[in-house]
Amino acid sequence: MKITVVGAGAVGATCADNIARKELASELVLLDIKEGLAEGKAQDMMQTAALLGFDTRITGTTNDYSKTQNSDVVIVTSGIPRKPGMTREELIGTNAGIVKNVCENILKHSPNAILLVVSNPMDTMTYLALTSTGLPKNRIIGMGGALDSARFRFQLSQQLGCSPADLNAVVVGGHGDTTMIPLIRTATWNSVPVAKFLSAEQQKQIVSDTMVGGATLTKLLGTSAWYAPGAAGAALVEAIVRDEKKLFTCCVSLNGEYGQKDICLGVPVVIGRNGWEKIVEFDLNDEEKAAFNKSADAVRNMNDVLKTL
Ligand code: 2OP
Repeated sequence: MKITVVGAGAVGATCADNIARKELASELVLLDIKEGLAEGKAQDMMQTAALLGFDTRITGTTNDYSKTQNSDVVIVTSGIPRKPGMTREELIGTNAGIVKNVCENILKHSPNAILLVVSNPMDTMTYLALTSTGLPKNRIIGMGGALDSARFRFQLSQQLGCSPADLNAVVVGGHGDTTMIPLIRTATWNSVPVAKFLSAEQQKQIVSDTMVGGATLTKLLGTSAWYAPGAAGAALVEAIVRDEKKLFTCCVSLNGEYGQKDICLGVPVVIGRNGWEKIVEFDLNDEEKAAFNKSADAVRNMNDVLKTL
């Protein structure tokens, strides 16, 4: 198995580190446009191999896509991260050109790769990757919902005083501060609805803290987060390479599912060796459906900006 991570910034490097520790590939390539950055981080990570006991061979390259040849999975993290006070959507002008160019270069050398899109604004970058490459839709996966759902489980675990691993909770819709929809009604603690243990006020707080999860960290860190985004990317890679058939919320192309078409948006999907293999349709109530449609409208408006660039 060969995996490439494009972008050796904090998210890309953390994702690569997780992939190596889990030994998800025999070969892992880190690529960046900044001279020496990917080579340096790859070598630094390789120097942990003797300590951590992994056998993945990590190499770095400055923009030489020939080194990524025949990758099975490619994670696209390139582009600028947001600064405090910025929305993910404000990055579109810069990141659209970068993501389009990265996808083209990757496919020249790895025409069969599954692309995992992390760059922001993630829903629109996933849509751009799909429409600009013309790849089969199951091979283009946006990572946002997997991250947002992990953040949702964290927030729930804090209030419930329980392990995040015991919680089942998903965030659907867009990967934006106002477009994501943490589905608290269907969230469970080992199959018991969390609403049994939380007041309406607590539930409201958890939902709003989840929605600004990324923005809160951007304010604290001065740039966007990397541990959870990197781990979310690696968890999806794991589900692909191990053909796990695990259910994650991911941003995928909708063709009538959840009442939407010609858009990439976060919905529960089964992830396996073929990329996303099946969309699972949850029964949303009227309020959740309205929120989902509103989220789709906002993402569609952002997708329309692509035409003006
Ligand atoms: C986040 O939410 C980077 O979009 C990513 O932290």
